[in-house]
Parts: sequence; structure tokens; C-alpha cells
Amino acid sequence: MSLPAIAVKNLVKKFGDTTVLHGIDLEIPQGQVSCLIGPSGSGKSTLLRCMAFLEEATSGTITVNGEVLGFTENAQGVRERISASANRAIRAQIGMVFQQFNLWPHMTALGNVSEALKMVQKMSRKQAEEQAMAQLVKVGLESRAGHYPSQLSGGQQQRVAIARALALKPKIMLFDEPTSSLDPELTGEVLNVMRDLAAEGMTMVVVSHEIGFAATVGQQINFLDHGKLIFSGPPQDVFRKPRNPRLEQFLDTYLDRGASMLL
Ligand SMILES: Nc1ncnc2c1ncn2[C@@H]1O[C@H](COP(=O)(O)OP(=O)(O)O)[C@@H](O)[C@H]1O
Ligand SMILES: [Mg+2]
Repeated sequence: MSLPAIAVKNLVKKFGDTTVLHGIDLEIPQGQVSCLIGPSGSGKSTLLRCMAFLEEATSGTITVNGEVLGFTENAQGVRERISASANRAIRAQIGMVFQQFNLWPHMTALGNVSEALKMVQKMSRKQAEEQAMAQLVKVGLESRAGHYPSQLSGGQQQRVAIARALALKPKIMLFDEPTSSLDPELTGEVLNVMRDLAAEGMTMVVVSHEIGFAATVGQQINFLDHGKLIFSGPPQDVFRKPRNPRLEQFLDTYLDRGASMLL
């Protein structure tokens, strides 16, 4: 077994007195697509945000390619914060795409993708724009490079957001409901970009209600319910009976006929 891309160990996350994640243990395998499904409010976004260190775990650890995110434990087992620069290097391995595309409205597609390369990676404008253009080509938007977000469809905006994340050359991509704010006819183009990325061997963690995508592209399906990981396994096992009653109920709600026929 190779080192997992991300290893989550006994992760607890509280907001105030409310425990949102109750001791999650999960390994994200290298080069695979791991999907995270579960009802609204079950903690999917929080888990993803902890993996990206946008939220700090209350306790437990998240290891990214063997390095512990955020904290180290001293000889007495006490958590100590690692240096900001060390943590930045670990976080740089992770790219994230959100439901809301969060593009800068005053910048073109090319500007949105190249900006971080100039700011974070200190690239020259020319170098940044070359690399940004290569990413726009990859998501099929080279002809839209000079367009502003308001001139792009939702699907195109999300593809720009994916290009922006990819431009920073992450080793792992996290997607939090990337198609949930899109009209149904626009979800396909985004899922296709994600499919291509998966085929290239990118390690991906995808929160999505697109059960068809999860079943066909996902190699590991994780079902979260009330902050607990209830099921983790390959897609074919999701449909093996007997099932956990909560998983059963969830599938009844989300599974359309088309998706079930794919399995
Ligand atoms: N910043 C926050 N402060 C307080 N509660 C939060 C915060 N973020 C999420 N929660 C709560 O945590 C629970 C899980 O939320 P979330 O991770 O967004 O679930 P999901 O993505 O599965 O819908 C919900 O009850 C939500 O209200
Ligand atoms: Mg969410």
C-alpha cells in the first residue's frame, strides 16, 4: 500500500458546543476519486474544509502525503502549531473548488487564473499568463480567456475556477458541490472536465449529489451522516444489501433511475 494522499485520524470538529464531526477516520488513496455523499448538514463541507485547513480540527490529525497539517505533537503528546511557512507548503499540495465560483468580477478569465501565479508564486506576468492559458486550454476555454465572469455561463465560470486551482499545480483537488449552483444543462461540461482530470490520475475528493458521477468515476464512496462516517467502500458495495438504514434512506432520496442503471 502506498502512502495515502490524505489520512484523517479521529477528526473531531466542534463549533462552540456543537460537535459537527465525531471522530472521522478516512484514508484518501493516491490517484483515485473519492466521493463524499450524505444529507445536507452531515458535515461534508466541514470535513473538506478541514482537509484544506480552511477550518482547524478540534482534535485528531490530517496528514497530507505523510505530513501532518497544522500541528505537530511534542514528546508529551501535546499539540503544537507548526510554522506558517511549513504549513503553507503542505497546503500548497491541495487545490479547492467551491460551489460558488468566487471569481474576481473585474478580471478576465485569464486574469483570474494568472493572478495567484503572480501573487503567490511570484511569476512574471508573461510566465503566469502562459501557464494560465495552458490551464484554460485544458478546461476547453481558450477562446474565452479575455471574457469577464459576467460574460461567461455558470459552467464556464466553474471551469475557470477549476483552471485557477489547477494552475497552482496541486497534488490533490477537493471539490465541494461543484455543480450544485449550475443549471442542469451546464453540469455536464463541469463533470466532463473532472472526468478528464480523474483519467489523468489526479487525486480527487468530491462532495456531490451527482450519484451517477460518483458511481461511474468514484473509486471510493464515503457516506457521512450526522458527522459520522457510516460507510466507506467501492461504489459496487454501496448497492450491496443489507445496507445501513440511513444510507438506504439517502439513496432513496437521491438515486435517480439513470444512476442505478449505471451500476
Ligand atoms: N462556521 C460554522 N459555525 C457554526 N456551525 C457551522 C459552521 N459551519 C458549519 N456548521 C454546522 O455544521 C454542520 C455541518 O455543516 P456542513 O459541513 O456545511 O454540512 P454539509 O456540507 O454536509 O451540508 C451543520 O449543522 C452546520 O450548521
Ligand atoms: Mg456542504
